[in-house]
Amino acid sequence: MRVDQEQDAGSGISVTAAPQLDNRAGDPMIRVENLGKQVSSPEGPLLILTEVSFSIAQGESVAVVGASGSGKSTLLGLLAGLDTPSHGRVWLAGVDLNSLDEDGRALLRARRVGFVFQSFQLLTGLTALENVMLPLELAGQADARRQALELLERVGLHSRARHYPAQLSGGEQQRVALARAFAGNPDVLFADEPTGNLDQKTGHRIIELLFALNREQGATLILVTHDPELAAYCDRVLELDDGRLQATTVAPVPERAVPARLS
Ligand SMILES: Nc1ncnc2c1ncn2[C@@H]1O[C@H](COP(=O)(O)OP(=O)(O)OP(=O)(O)O)[C@@H](O)[C@H]1O
Ligand SMILES: [Mg+2]
Repeated sequence: MRVDQEQDAGSGISVTAAPQLDNRAGDPMIRVENLGKQVSSPEGPLLILTEVSFSIAQGESVAVVGASGSGKSTLLGLLAGLDTPSHGRVWLAGVDLNSLDEDGRALLRARRVGFVFQSFQLLTGLTALENVMLPLELAGQADARRQALELLERVGLHSRARHYPAQLSGGEQQRVALARAFAGNPDVLFADEPTGNLDQKTGHRIIELLFALNREQGATLILVTHDPELAAYCDRVLELDDGRLQATTVAPVPERAVPARLS
């Protein structure tokens, strides 16, 4: 893996070249080796993730479950290169994230990754439509507006396109965040409790959309959830307990016939 730092002679601006993607068909989409995260707290250093190792295949759907505070959001942030580990390594799409600087990780995310934060993190000064358009515009897509409107339609929010986040309910903000994460058809989608704020019917609709992306585009899904229904639709469940990986459970095959079971 290589990231080229080039100096633009004219402007003096440092340009980070796009990371070269090393993964081949059959390689895992994510590989994690001995991952650990230590933070400082008022009581001193705190280990919030310890010796976590696993692989996720391309096209696999994985639920990350565990009690509140067990380290699920921390793990998701590390897998997507939003945060850096204190120990261990993450390979995302064949790229060792430790070999990239912040700009390199951002470029890799822009090209391959959709991420739905637990707290949504919509840009408050932009409308729902503009929030969804942003990644498409950054990717240089000419028809960003049309695509973003289509995505808002898919999450049932066409009529709220011109609303700002403060004018949206929690569940609506969550769906805008999902539409934004779907923009550009990511190869891997991370979502932190994607049905956490939704009623059962809207939750079903979102599960359908997530698994349509998985089935039709071959996207890898990594979903943090407290929702046993959503976890049951995934190929595999990873369970965290106090920062340690406790168990990985493979769902029985009939459970994996996902969208067909949804009305
Ligand atoms: N920057 C930080 N500094 C100190 N402690 C932190 C920091 N980030 C997370 N923690 C602690 O680490 C633990 C794991 O946090 P994390 O957000 O990953 O949990 P979680 O499993 O996602 O919980 P929830 O289900 O409530 O969202 C928590 O106890 C949290 O208080
Ligand atoms: Mg969390």
